[in-house]
Amino acid sequence: MRNIIDVDQLADKTLLHRLFRRADAFRDMPPSDYPKPLQHLTICTIFFEPSTRTRLSFETAIQNLGGQLITVENAGDYSSAKKGESLEDTIKTIQEYANGIVIRHPEIGSAERAAKVSRVPIINAGDGAAQHPTQALLDLYTIHQAKGAIDGLKVVLVGDTLNSRTIHSLAKLLSLYKVEILLLAPPALRIPQEYLDLFQKLAIPFSLHETWDEVIEVADVVYINRVQKERFKSMEEYEAVKDSCILTLALVQRMKTDAIIMDPLPRVNEIELAVDDDPRAIYFQQVRNGLYTRMALLEYVFAS
Ligand code: CP
Repeated sequence: MRNIIDVDQLADKTLLHRLFRRADAFRDMPPSDYPKPLQHLTICTIFFEPSTRTRLSFETAIQNLGGQLITVENAGDYSSAKKGESLEDTIKTIQEYANGIVIRHPEIGSAERAAKVSRVPIINAGDGAAQHPTQALLDLYTIHQAKGAIDGLKVVLVGDTLNSRTIHSLAKLLSLYKVEILLLAPPALRIPQEYLDLFQKLAIPFSLHETWDEVIEVADVVYINRVQKERFKSMEEYEAVKDSCILTLALVQRMKTDAIIMDPLPRVNEIELAVDDDPRAIYFQQVRNGLYTRMALLEYVFAS
């Protein structure tokens, strides 16, 4: 049985490129040709935190591959968690109906707790500020698709590097390659030390920056994420940093002509709307890739 809890489980180049090839195949085939490896399987999506992309792309992917879907949105309010049921009891209940569970939950380690009591595969769709493994998969796939290769790139990770689980998970996968990582964030949003230790251990060149001027002209990839309001203890702390790293059209005009701009979204204010028309802005292509990579991952988890 395959759980996908931690991005480290995807940290294998052979596996990643196998999944990329399947995502390419799903992208290129007409929907009428999609295989149905999930036929006769029921998959539950249960989200205790808001989501647009992750939930809808998983649900589309499940149905494209012939699976049956059961879903709980806003599970903190609309599942029996509201009445005090533990996460463990919720999972033990769902596995009586479903052959796999995709879960998003605000607590770090929640997906692992779910996997400990589950006899069906658990896929982590985001656990608090910790991990978002399937987002990292689609992000790396998007970089590979847009740039043709990952080795040799200068990747700038921008914004809430402290709390952004998408930045944390992508940083781990990027560390498999010969990249240079530039981190742009105010001191209050500096990436946790464990990631800097990882870069050091793997001899990944990295540097910490506080101004766009230091990174904008050398970047091959700008990966920016919103300041994660929901992770702050007080609104004062959030207000102090919420506008610290905004990507403006004027900045984009200084970027390399073949650079790319990515954002896992949702966008709040971190990218000016005018940037959307620049061909280097590929965040909605990134959204679409979420469907193909999650189809590839579901096939891997349930049918290989
Ligand atoms: N990127 C991402 O996780 O988006 P959602 O929160 O909309 O799922």
